[in-house]
Amino acid sequence: CIDVARLPKETGCFTYDPGFTATASCKSAITYIDGDQGVLLYRGYPIEQLAEQSSFLEVAYLLMNGELPDRNEFAKFEHEVTHHTMMHERLKNFFQGFQYDAHPMAMLAATVASLSAFYHDTLDLEDPEQRRLAAIRLLAKMPTLAAAAYRYSIGWPIRFPRNNLDYVNRFLHMMFEVPSEPLEMNPVVAKALDLLFILHADHEQNASTSTVRLVGSTGANPYASVAAGITALWGPAHGGANEAVLKMLAEIGTPDKVDAAVARAKDKNDSFRLMGFGHRVYKNFDPRAKIIREMTHKVLGELGIDDPLLEVAMKLEEAALKDDYFVQRKLYPNVDFYSGIIYKALKIPTEMFTVMFAIGRTAGWVAHWLEQQVDPENKIGRPRQIYTGAATRDYVAIDRR
Ligand code: ACO
Repeated sequence: CIDVARLPKETGCFTYDPGFTATASCKSAITYIDGDQGVLLYRGYPIEQLAEQSSFLEVAYLLMNGELPDRNEFAKFEHEVTHHTMMHERLKNFFQGFQYDAHPMAMLAATVASLSAFYHDTLDLEDPEQRRLAAIRLLAKMPTLAAAAYRYSIGWPIRFPRNNLDYVNRFLHMMFEVPSEPLEMNPVVAKALDLLFILHADHEQNASTSTVRLVGSTGANPYASVAAGITALWGPAHGGANEAVLKMLAEIGTPDKVDAAVARAKDKNDSFRLMGFGHRVYKNFDPRAKIIREMTHKVLGELGIDDPLLEVAMKLEEAALKDDYFVQRKLYPNVDFYSGIIYKALKIPTEMFTVMFAIGRTAGWVAHWLEQQVDPENKIGRPRQIYTGAATRDYVAIDRR
């Protein structure tokens, strides 16, 4: 019982908004979401148009610069990204320090944070050109570090990035032993991966982007800020959901077990949730989920894969969408519901799913960090709290307690 009269007095008035469901922490011109209508725009362009007509690198340019590039601007940007893909040779020592079975997200977060140790001396945050270069470095090196984390975890030697390949094929080449020749790379695989990166590129003030901005608001360097974003992404309520979805579908196993899983998800005495369902902002179909759903059927069809988990996923979606519990709470499949099935078809191992998300989201993280650096209203992020602890009391010596 708290003696309110003895609590320290607060001055002023503030809102109590756990989870920031109704608090705008900044102004941003990057991404617009209408959660009721299921609309997502990057810099004003509908996600459906970008998914169909653009490429991930072009979308990254758009997010970072505000406009689509012309041919010359794009060629310069692609050249810069391509020529910053190498990682410092000493970074290999970081990987060698990890247990062989370390989770790739742990390795990614740590090695991205370590970039600040390699570049901090040259980084003057007041200089727009240096800020831009740091953002490009992060975009360029993320796939290199991601692939290195994977190869280390399976005991394969780390591969250097090949600069004659495009962003996605370069990543595939670094990841996999086979196919080893770029011409043998399957265009369906590259297109699917590029699309997933586009769909994951930004989503305004989600937990990881808000984390990047919170760390960035203190004046910390972009490598440290983005490393913090990676750790926030890892949780199963956020980017870790794609890994959790696949584990859940595998656990359900067959379509006839779907109804039992739905019943469990509705049981308030059971902590089980349908992973890949529900979203803080979308109270309608997640537009990215619609695109991925279509893509999943296409990719599996073109690669000739008959994955029984797809059948489980479709049955689960169907069962949830006609169940009152999910309808009333507006719980629809989100971006992560189908992405895992595509990653699996592309032979990306489950523990790499959230790493894949991180590669795409890097475009948004650096765009937000860049925007924040020139925001005249940027202040150090510092939420308040409602204190629920002890009232003021006197210290008691240890032998009198
Ligand atoms: N399965 C079952 N019930 C659910 C689910 C779910 N997946 N999601 C929400 N609910 C229920 C809650 O139990 C709650 O019910 P109640 O009103 O009876 O108490 C109600 O729906 C509202 O849920 P909240 O947790 O309050 O919603 P919130 O906006 O805080 O959470 C979240 C959103 C975290 C995405 C949640 O829906 C969830 O945990 N989903 C599963 C994990 C997931 O797929 N995460 C990926 C999100 S997308 C992304 O990060 C890219």
